[in-house]
Amino acid sequence: MTSFPTRRLRRLRATPALRRLAAEHHLHPSELVLPVFVKEGIDAAQPIASMPGVSQHPLEALPAVVEQAAAAGLGGIMLFGVPATRDAVGSGAVDPDGILNRAIAVAVTAAAGRLTVQADLCLDEFTDHGHCGVLAADGSVDNDATLEVYARMAVAQAAAGADVLGLSGMMDGQVAACRQALDAAGRSDVVILAYSAKYASAFYGPFRDAVESTLQGDRRTYQLDPANGREGVAEALADIDEGADVVMVKPAGPYLDVLARVADAATVPVWAYQVSGEYALIETAAAAGLIDRERAIGESLVGIRRAGAEAILTYWAIEVAGWLNDGRSLA
Ligand code: PBG
Repeated sequence: MTSFPTRRLRRLRATPALRRLAAEHHLHPSELVLPVFVKEGIDAAQPIASMPGVSQHPLEALPAVVEQAAAAGLGGIMLFGVPATRDAVGSGAVDPDGILNRAIAVAVTAAAGRLTVQADLCLDEFTDHGHCGVLAADGSVDNDATLEVYARMAVAQAAAGADVLGLSGMMDGQVAACRQALDAAGRSDVVILAYSAKYASAFYGPFRDAVESTLQGDRRTYQLDPANGREGVAEALADIDEGADVVMVKPAGPYLDVLARVADAATVPVWAYQVSGEYALIETAAAAGLIDRERAIGESLVGIRRAGAEAILTYWAIEVAGWLNDGRSLA
């Protein structure tokens, strides 16, 4: 008698209906967060050359973006401010009239509770030297002096109405400093999303264009070394100890192993940021006819999900939510 395979793993792959039922991971629009760039002093959307399909928006256009995001059922938007002027200490970040704080207030009004309004809490968009913190006399980034500015920035963003503060500066102790400042200001309700395992990555390249950062040099003295996985887990655990409500891994695609390890170790939700370079790679490869754009986008997102992210920040959030709302599967 011919011997047949006793295990036929292909059986569950035979039809779209079986594949859908057997899928281990699904995505929902509520698990997607759209990063949004708001630029001071422009009166029409300005396309970002390094990120085809993504624009900087004037403040006046923000309500329409929020409306689209809410209609798509997104979980939130993450705001970045692009100020008209910058200085050594990033004054625009703590000024209630600074572009990011004004954008938060506008977005909160437009959102009317339909999605969360999140804000990037970091100094790089506001400093003239482009670093994520203030500098010491020798030109190094001064960790503890930066914490004082972050604490004031946290209170300003909370006052503007942000639901979630995205701490992306990679200073030691930033979660504790912001938590204490928020609690002291009577804002124990404000959520802290810690960009815990944030790597010193070439994949942020297009973003530098998006926020017009003038950074000379690099961020290797504060962002993580791409060679280190365990250290990413250590950062996440330290942030949880300091009171982080959510921890994040960033970039996502090149760090899926770190994401999986953090997801195993964390006692709080774990999110991931699919960054500008991950976006640009797929867009440019698709534009060159080298890759099926929609399948590549879907596969990249489901991979991030499979590795352990419960929510994903992605520049494709609105488009992908549209596919999901149409009942399409991602990969
Ligand atoms: C810091 C910040 C950066 C990104 C998000 N927050 C830049 C950096 O750390 O160099 C990058 C996001 C992206 O590349 O899409 N404010």
